[in-house]
Amino acid sequence: MGRGYLTKEMKILVTGGAGFIGSSFVRCFMEKRQNPVVTLDSLTYAGNMANLEAVLGLPRHTFVKGDICDPSAVDFAMKGVGAVVHFAAETHVDRSIDDSGIFLRTNVVGTGVLLDAARRHNVKKFVHVSTDEVYGAVLEGYSTEGGHLHPNSPYSASKAASDLLALSYHATYGLPVVVTRCSNNFGPYQFPEKLIPLFISNALEDKPLPVYGDGLYVRDWIYVDDHSRAVDRVLWDGRAGEVYNIGGTKDKANLEITDFILNKLGKPASLKKHVQDRPGHDRRYAMDSSKIEKELGWRAECNFEEALAQTIEWYRSNQGWWRTIKSGEYRNYYEKFFAGRLAGSSAGSVN
Ligand code: NAD
Ligand code: DAU
Repeated sequence: MGRGYLTKEMKILVTGGAGFIGSSFVRCFMEKRQNPVVTLDSLTYAGNMANLEAVLGLPRHTFVKGDICDPSAVDFAMKGVGAVVHFAAETHVDRSIDDSGIFLRTNVVGTGVLLDAARRHNVKKFVHVSTDEVYGAVLEGYSTEGGHLHPNSPYSASKAASDLLALSYHATYGLPVVVTRCSNNFGPYQFPEKLIPLFISNALEDKPLPVYGDGLYVRDWIYVDDHSRAVDRVLWDGRAGEVYNIGGTKDKANLEITDFILNKLGKPASLKKHVQDRPGHDRRYAMDSSKIEKELGWRAECNFEEALAQTIEWYRSNQGWWRTIKSGEYRNYYEKFFAGRLAGSSAGSVN
């Protein structure tokens, strides 16, 4: 029995389980726990049934294709559910800069639909998965849970709004909500628009690696399964109404990541191409995870260099997975986006 009265028989609803982190969570959770799992995912460009291959044949797993903004689909998926782990979101910062509307719809309205349904279904725990980006740039020191929210992109602003909405359901209705805020994830099955899978796959294709601005932006990297293990700890024992930071304590500049990838793949430095910066680009994120470490006994276990080397190897030996994505509908979108970056002149504003 965990805080919030979860039991090992309870059915768990995972939203966004066909995405990168959601599918890692479903795999890790089902390997460790006996609970039945329902995955609810609308299969946007980022959702991929191949990510769930490991669990699709299991009788304890059910997949429901549906939109979190659709109350009837959510009601259907939430029947008999004891706890919700909410990953579903629009997640790419560059896309949010191009078009914020879908970010507001999915991340804010969709979270609201889920919270209302969770009240009706009397769920015992609602884990809202959020991001370190809600704190904004941290030029020195580390973000703590009590820190100010200062989101700088439409993506992070939509996540901050959804965090506050989720926490308001605890304060107002007593819904047992817990919010997690994690740093940058990497690992297998990450959509190849994000830095690490984009750069690995471009290097494998001998295509340029588009480094935004000076490349000295810092992110706090965490291996995806470490994040999933942290969410599992929060699901069972996290205190309702609380926020838990989850960080990898591996602050790295983008150019360090780029060089690591090129070296591992034996590709030349000439593939690096500095392009127009991302507008409103946050200079550095860095997380203080001491709360979850002290309270729930979690800490990141994976060695960063080993996990990144294994991740590079995964993309090298699973080329069918990302080549299918890169040669499909996504190709037109990305080529247009990339051409814009190349054509752009001086750097955008930096936070
Ligand atoms: P992703 O883009 O890989 O996957 C998102 C999933 O949500 C996809 O399967 C997609 O089909 C689904 N989805 C999108 N809109 C939906 C809708 N309206 N209804 C149902 N399903 C929908 O994202 P990710 O990187 O796995 O991120 C998962 C969560 O973790 C997000 O909430 C994100 O904000 C958070 N997060 C991500 C990171 C990171 O580094 N990637 C770090 C911290 C927190
Ligand atoms: O910090 C957690 C967040 O990490 C999550 O909440 C987001 O969902 C996730 O997308 C990620 O956001 P970032 O913007 O940090 O990730 P991204 O991979 O897009 O970029 C990482 C860094 O690399 C950032 O400084 C921008 C830079 N970059 C990115 C791309 C795609 C480049 O230099 N070139 C690129 O082509």
